[in-house]
Amino acid sequence: MTKIALVTGANKGIGKEIARQLVGAGYEVLLGSRDLARGEAAAKEVGATAIQLAVTDPESVEQAAAAIAAEYGRLDVLVNNAAIIPAGDAGVVDIAPGVLRDGFETNVVGLVGVTQAMLPLLRKAPQARVVNMSTELASFTSVGDPASRMSTVRTLGYNSTKAAVNMVTVMLANELRGSGILVNAADPGNCATDMGGWDAGRTAAQGAAVAVRLATLAADGPTGEVYAEAGRLPW
Ligand SMILES: NC(=O)c1ccc[n+]([C@@H]2O[C@H](COP(=O)([O-])OP(=O)(O)OC[C@H]3O[C@@H](n4cnc5c(N)ncnc54)[C@H](OP(=O)(O)O)[C@@H]3O)[C@@H](O)[C@H]2O)c1
Repeated sequence: MTKIALVTGANKGIGKEIARQLVGAGYEVLLGSRDLARGEAAAKEVGATAIQLAVTDPESVEQAAAAIAAEYGRLDVLVNNAAIIPAGDAGVVDIAPGVLRDGFETNVVGLVGVTQAMLPLLRKAPQARVVNMSTELASFTSVGDPASRMSTVRTLGYNSTKAAVNMVTVMLANELRGSGILVNAADPGNCATDMGGWDAGRTAAQGAAVAVRLATLAADGPTGEVYAEAGRLPW
């Protein structure tokens, strides 16, 4: 039985590479994109099927869930990849409230909304996997170490929302323990994309591989953890 995977925000960047790698692993991949035309172009490139999905638009999320239910009746993999660094992001001293709200709306409220909408479909799969994209900028250990480069990055609207994503990951893993659904977060490392900057040291494909490993975990795999390429990331 071919497994069905949904990747949000997959029209470009790491999400597109996750879609490409899951197609390569034999999955039928639904490539989520808020702009359907851009999603279709990316889907054609990687051998996936585009689906319109704006994580901040509950109607779009409901329609996507209904379409997946009608076509497949289940979902084996959900990769919550869509995210933003909100425009105007800054440190705690300077950030405008609206900027912080924008970050939470997409990165946390949107991610939880998509997960809730897809959960009935994930429960229908024999061994579903959920992967939430995180970052070392959400690690209290790294950001709290004055010697770490992470401590110098002044983007509260990004770091705090991804720290919240880590908590979503741990809590959902707890809530689904024993269901066969494994929930983990992936830190792709700094990858060359529109978000990561084009001078970043890693490719989007290298970042995607971290998520794909968690999306394809065996039944005895971990749950409620955050992994980078080198292994578990400290909270
Ligand atoms: N690149 C890095 O160095 C790095 C490092 C650590 C973690 N990450 C994480 O990895 C993931 C992918 O990052 P990336 O570098 O590939 O970013 P990216 O190139 O900026 O791509 C982000 C994707 O999210 C989509 N998106 C944003 N808001 C959305 C919304 N409301 N509804 C649906 N889609 C939305 C974007 O769609 P549009 O094209 O329509 O804007 C785009 O497809 C993110 O979760 C990011 O936080 C990245």
